[in-house]
Amino acid sequence: MCKKCLITYSSITGNTEKVALRFKETFERKGWQCDIFKVRKNAEDILRPPFDIPSYDFVCAGSGLRAHLPYNEILNMLRGFRTGMDPRIALRFRDETIPYIAEPVPEIPPHKDPRIDHRKIILGPDSPKAVVFITYAGYEFGPREAEPAIQLLSLELEHIGFQCVGHFCCPGKYVNDPMPQTFHGDIRDRPNERDLRTAQMFIEEKLEETADQA
Ligand SMILES: Cc1cc2nc3c(=O)[nH]c(=O)nc-3n(C[C@H](O)[C@H](O)[C@H](O)COP(=O)(O)O)c2cc1C
Repeated sequence: MCKKCLITYSSITGNTEKVALRFKETFERKGWQCDIFKVRKNAEDILRPPFDIPSYDFVCAGSGLRAHLPYNEILNMLRGFRTGMDPRIALRFRDETIPYIAEPVPEIPPHKDPRIDHRKIILGPDSPKAVVFITYAGYEFGPREAEPAIQLLSLELEHIGFQCVGHFCCPGKYVNDPMPQTFHGDIRDRPNERDLRTAQMFIEEKLEETADQA
């Protein structure tokens, strides 16, 4: 039976989407069944994503950055899988909510109290695998600016049982100005074909590595 991959991502200006689509092509060329789900801004579907994440052998989660962080949509959707609850319940502990969702926040089910529902998670060779992908501008520090987002998305994925085996990041166009004084200089054409070929090779390598471990 062919293996199943999920690519889920948020992309406001389309840069991360280009990487997501190249990932999909690569998985399919390697014989995988690949579902792709864009987590849209201002959409209530993050409460009820149309897929069952534990049914996948491999997950790729991606986002652009705003103010150093991945987009809330993808984070909140993954948080929902992590807690098995409406992500707004977890957000309440940070005095945050998801303003565009009109339906009331449900009560915490008694058997799901997030203050006590903790357990040690140990991931191993049998755990399904995941990768994170980020597009970013990195004007000041370059790739370092993507690190907090990579860590955050990886942690959410590991919480739901997917062992993160790597990350891909590349610059993504921000403003329509060459900005030669910045870390990466002119990124108006990024991600370009070279970035996308690197994205493709990244997935090919990860599939070889994980097949070797199987
Ligand atoms: C309002 C705004 C804030 C941004 N903040 C950051 C940031 O803090 N760090 C960074 O490296 N890039 C930042 N960027 C650049 C985007 O992360 C980058 O263009 C990314 O490729 C966008 O992805 P998308 O097209 O998939 O939405 C910002 C872009 C916008 C429009």
